[in-house]
Amino acid sequence: MAQQEVVTSSVEDSVAVIRIANPPVNALSAAVRGGLKREAEAAAANPAIRAIVIVAEGKTFIAGADITEFGKPPVPPSLPEVIAILETLAKPVVAAINGAALGGGLEVALGCHARVAAPSAKLGLPEVKLGILPGAGGTQRLPRLIGTAPAVKIAAEGNPISAKEAQSLGLVDEVAEDVVPAAKALALKLAGGTLPTPARDRANLGAREAFEEAAAALLKKNADNPSVAAVVDAVRACFEKSFEEGLAVERAHFLRLRDDPRSKALRHVFFAERAAARIPNLPKGTQPRPVAKAAVIGGGTMGGGIAMCFANAGIPVTLIETSEENLQRGLERVAGNYATSVKRGSLTEEARDKRMSLIEGKVGLENAAGADVVVEAVFEEMGLKKEIFGKLEGIAKPGAVLATNTSYLDVDEIAASTSRPGDVLGMHFFSPANVMKLLEVVRGAKTSPEVLATAMDLGRKLAKVPVVSGVCYGFIGNRMLARRTAMAERLLLEGAQPKEVDKALTDFGFRMGPFAMADLAGLDIGWRIRKATGKKAPVADALCEAGRLGQKTKRGYYDYSADGRTGAADPEVAALIERVSAEQGIARRAIPQDEILERLLYPMINEGARILEEGIALRAGDIDTVWLNGYGWPAWTGGPMFHADSVGLPKIVARLREFAAGGDESLQPAPLLVRLAEQGSSFAALDQKAA
Ligand code: 3HC
Ligand code: NAI
Repeated sequence: MAQQEVVTSSVEDSVAVIRIANPPVNALSAAVRGGLKREAEAAAANPAIRAIVIVAEGKTFIAGADITEFGKPPVPPSLPEVIAILETLAKPVVAAINGAALGGGLEVALGCHARVAAPSAKLGLPEVKLGILPGAGGTQRLPRLIGTAPAVKIAAEGNPISAKEAQSLGLVDEVAEDVVPAAKALALKLAGGTLPTPARDRANLGAREAFEEAAAALLKKNADNPSVAAVVDAVRACFEKSFEEGLAVERAHFLRLRDDPRSKALRHVFFAERAAARIPNLPKGTQPRPVAKAAVIGGGTMGGGIAMCFANAGIPVTLIETSEENLQRGLERVAGNYATSVKRGSLTEEARDKRMSLIEGKVGLENAAGADVVVEAVFEEMGLKKEIFGKLEGIAKPGAVLATNTSYLDVDEIAASTSRPGDVLGMHFFSPANVMKLLEVVRGAKTSPEVLATAMDLGRKLAKVPVVSGVCYGFIGNRMLARRTAMAERLLLEGAQPKEVDKALTDFGFRMGPFAMADLAGLDIGWRIRKATGKKAPVADALCEAGRLGQKTKRGYYDYSADGRTGAADPEVAALIERVSAEQGIARRAIPQDEILERLLYPMINEGARILEEGIALRAGDIDTVWLNGYGWPAWTGGPMFHADSVGLPKIVARLREFAAGGDESLQPAPLLVRLAEQGSSFAALDQKAA
């Protein structure tokens, strides 16, 4: 029954139109595969039918294999089997590609005799982004159809191409607004002549040298990526092996990679990001408010970047500063950022001009009057923020969302300075705001459901990955980061050098370690905060006192005198650290790399467990999403909480107890962590139960 519902067919002018309707994205579930096989075989057997068209309902054509089926026992027919049936039919089969044809979806289209695509359709093989490679002939049919050099690039980079580009490569035969009638007409035309050679039997491989050159560049850029290496190997087989043998090469790589823990982690990342968009318990019918105009208060590092986010999404924005001079500085920084994109070729001059024209600079808060959303990004000072929100009450239009970009401050206290706390929340962008994907949406005690829904919806429109956080010091990300920062300093005092600490994290997959990062950001930021809050970090404080503020002074944890950007280990720093250790009465010892890594990561995971238990984060997957999109956590380990499950919670609990035995009680394992470990459970199981 279910099979008949997801795939149906009708006969129109002697063409069988096979229709897939498997919302939301027509993934190739067992029911779809079975339905396609059934309808194709029925059409083949029906003498009244001359040709076949495959169409799909909704916005997408077919988004690929059903990722939720990975890791479950296979259900026949397999996708390769279904595609082989389509390909060997004696009647022409045409794919009518109305929207995204991705992964297995493009592989189905490649098994057809021809393809018609809508101008807005996207075609691609994104499997590498899930840690696998195309597993239903994509690496064999695409190269034979369009050439090995363009094909290896499409499959190894995983980025979809437009219908127009696909047409110019010979992947698409026709581009048409209304794909179904166009595909039917083409199918009938083909039925009147000789059947086109299917992709598997074409020989349009192109020059071997061009392929090897493209492959070498891809391998160099993705040296640690097993999927890219597998794609290259499978496409290379087109030169060296028969089609069937090539399929076997591809299949072997596919099965190996699908079962690799890295692919499991990347699948978790895919679903965690989408789950983060869902807010449980919102009153039924809660609708986001429309946002047609925005204002950003403060044109500094963050404000300028946030204004760019609005302009990039086509939303007009007013950037507000305290003086003409500050405003000009802010606008110049924005113009400079866009100029860099134009120079790099990632933005046309025309698009740049359009975006700049959407950003209007003004002096004075009263200019926030017309905005549907106001994002405050002034200095991190509670008094100033409260003053601004107090004033906004008389300026912002009724119903405007009032957001703060604060990194640490209490959003509820800020909200209390207006008589409309229901309109207030945090929209915590990450630096650089126009680049970083993460948006922590901080829900205050009084934030209205509608305002929360508006910020989440707006976040997606700004091309961000929004994640809900409750109110606490540092929210999800910075609160966990503080644990790592404190431990990194402690490791220096106990015997490690900055390079060893950074290396432990870069070996794990972070692009930068905490000390290289601190040097880049400037050590004075943390110093100022510590002075204001009476906290101490003996090594960091001593470096600042010695005038070593990071890259900007050419000296910080590292020495940058060579070229201003490459940090070298500095004997002066080693001596300074040793002196501070001695002052603190700490005996130094060599600390192994694996211990350094555990001591950096486990306290963060522990804090994540507390954040989850307190309800600050809605799901463990949300915490992973924060770290993956805001702090460069390596995706193939799935994020801190997924990584914790992979390591095993009992081991993490045991190690934390050992760390705490050193005297730091904050390292005692969180009750939730202990409970899950004792029950033999996991963060993933906890999320599943809550879903
Ligand atoms: N399998 C199962 N579910 C999928 C899916 C897939 N391939 N693709 C999307 N979904 C689900 C999402 O989880 C989400 O579910 P939710 O609403 O319950 O959270 C829902 O469909 C909508 O997805 P998005 O929020 O991503 O919707 P968008 O409209 O923003 O994007 C899309 C649509 C561009 C198709 C995007 O979903 C996407 O990129 N999907 C994945 C494409 C992909 O990776 N395909 C390759 C799969 S592997 C494969 O094909 C192997 C083959 O070679 C054998
Ligand atoms: P910044 O110092 O670069 O910019 C602040 C700007 O606000 C200045 O240009 C200042 O002139 C302006 N300003 C001050 N009072 C104003 C007023 N009354 N009206 C209009 N403009 C006013 O600071 P930055 O780094 O941009 O930080 C802004 C906020 O964003 C802070 O709350 C900070 O904690 C937060 N944040 C900072 C991040 C970072 O990496 N810099 C990351 C995420 C959040």
